[in-house]
Amino acid sequence: MPCPGQCLTALLAVGCLLPTAQAAHYKINTRDEILASARTLAYDMMLFYKGNQTGQTPGILPGPPTEHKGDYYWWEGGALWGTMVDYWHLTGDSSYNAVTTQALLHQVGAGRDYQPVNHTASLGNDDQAFWGMSAMLAAETRFPDPPPGQPQWLALAQAVFNTQADPARRDKTCGGGLRWQIPAVNVGYDYKNTVANACFFNLGARLARYTRNDTYAAWAEHTFDWLLARRYVDTAEWRVFDGGHVGHNCTDVNRAQFSYNAALLLQGAAYMLNYTGGGAVWRRRVDGLLDGMLRDFFPGGVAYELPCESRPGGACTTDMLSFKGYVHRWLAVVTQLAPHTRGRILPVLRSSAAAAVRQCTGGRTRRRCGFYWSSGVYVDPSVDGTSGAGEAMNVLAAVSSLLIDATDAPTTNLTGGTSTGDYGGGGRRFKSKRPKPKPITTVDRVAAVMFTVGVVISNGLIWTLMMLRN
Ligand SMILES: *[C@@H]1O[C@H](CO)[C@@H](O)[C@H](O)[C@H]1NC(C)=O
Ligand SMILES: *[C@@H]1O[C@H](CO)[C@@H](O)[C@H](O)[C@H]1NC(C)=O
Ligand SMILES: *[C@@H]1O[C@H](CO)[C@@H](O)[C@H](O)[C@H]1NC(C)=O
Ligand SMILES: *[C@@H]1O[C@H](CO)[C@@H](O)[C@H](O)[C@H]1NC(C)=O
Ligand SMILES: *[C@@H]1O[C@H](CO)[C@@H](O)[C@H](O)[C@H]1NC(C)=O
Ligand SMILES: *[C@@H]1O[C@H](CO)[C@@H](O)[C@H](O)[C@H]1NC(C)=O
Repeated sequence: MPCPGQCLTALLAVGCLLPTAQAAHYKINTRDEILASARTLAYDMMLFYKGNQTGQTPGILPGPPTEHKGDYYWWEGGALWGTMVDYWHLTGDSSYNAVTTQALLHQVGAGRDYQPVNHTASLGNDDQAFWGMSAMLAAETRFPDPPPGQPQWLALAQAVFNTQADPARRDKTCGGGLRWQIPAVNVGYDYKNTVANACFFNLGARLARYTRNDTYAAWAEHTFDWLLARRYVDTAEWRVFDGGHVGHNCTDVNRAQFSYNAALLLQGAAYMLNYTGGGAVWRRRVDGLLDGMLRDFFPGGVAYELPCESRPGGACTTDMLSFKGYVHRWLAVVTQLAPHTRGRILPVLRSSAAAAVRQCTGGRTRRRCGFYWSSGVYVDPSVDGTSGAGEAMNVLAAVSSLLIDATDAPTTNLTGGTSTGDYGGGGRRFKSKRPKPKPITTVDRVAAVMFTVGVVISNGLIWTLMMLRN
């Protein structure tokens, strides 16, 4: 509750402002403290979820904003269930397993490949893949298998992968790669971006390790090489950029660096390193991506969303406000798959989580979490135009991931995984209505130059672009 003006005079008498030392609700010094904190954070997180209430749609957070139904796009539901699968795996608390299973199964769509017709208007390859990666995580963690006859976790991940590897989803512009959006009519169909391809890479690397089928590894390798060749990843300094447009053959690289792009690649590279039994190429990539990650996204050892966090209120979109949680969860898994990274990653996950909980002092409960971890001061999520699900998910992820050392590494088909696969899965192909790629014209070239100049001057177009996400 905010301190009303008249109370300032009677400050000490009524105790309206609590001393800072009492403000922090969450403690994370011992395993028991972490478990207790994670339990409350999970409870508060789930208050944002209405999908299992009468008349609501299972799986999704309130939204999408384009239909004035709430702050959240469809994909963030997929990300939420990944967070809850990890929460169960890390803490052993199965309180939310039933609601998680219901959610992950409700959204599979008619093709059992996470392309439900309701969400076609915001269906990017990355959106579909976030659900697919959560299904993959369920297989890897041995999250309870759905009853026979229902779609199985591994098969769902394979189905998502198959639809994205399908030639119908690919074309020759920019030397290959996935577009951002799936339906040709969606805004952003002309953008071939890092996140779409990084999600596909991540999923491929994990399917390779889980099934030991080299076809997946070959796709992962090919996709990583494509990102390097487009200069979406700068291997001199290991910066991961956002993407480029087919109208410019992807040479108009938008240099915005978002933490989740770098984390998707780092985690996927760790899977490939593990799969290849410690190959030098993947080790160099893991180490380079980790250098860039710690340098750009953990200044002072605290998670920081570089492209938007320094800008005054509202510069980070609802999507961006959820990235820190994925970064924490995926880095935690990197320590298991590439044990040589432990000494560098674990202390940072700890210092960052400590900063995260320090600012969870908001709301009537005095334990609501905001987004700005470095300052240690709670900022109400409404300043950024959201109700705070991403902010809550971030802190839950950061705190529960502190238990990674006492938790099993991702299983495989050979090390206890029980999920049933299906190499043939995947339905809707979105073959129709693809426009012929435009030849590159002088107008496009001028536009490309202006785009670059615009970015240098103001970064304004980056924000426009990211606001148009989905
Ligand atoms: C929805 O899920 C939450 C969390 O598992 C649970 O507490 C609640 O009872 C469920 N509500 C309904 C209507 O099933
Ligand atoms: C699609 O929307 C309808 C109507 O809101 C809803 O009943 C159904 O559960 C939704 N399906 C999915 C997969 O979200
Ligand atoms: C587009 O880029 C690809 C990959 O570098 C290249 O093979 C192709 O020739 C380029 N196309 C045009 C029209 O420049
Ligand atoms: C692969 O991951 C497992 C599980 O964490 C680990 O024990 C093993 O050392 C890793 N292999 C390599 C080559 O890093
Ligand atoms: C592992 O994969 C093999 C080959 O695909 C399959 O026959 C076997 O059933 C799988 N094992 C488990 C536990 O799923
Ligand atoms: C390996 O995966 C590919 C791609 O899904 C599939 O076509 C092939 O049948 C699989 N190979 C084996 C031996 O299962």
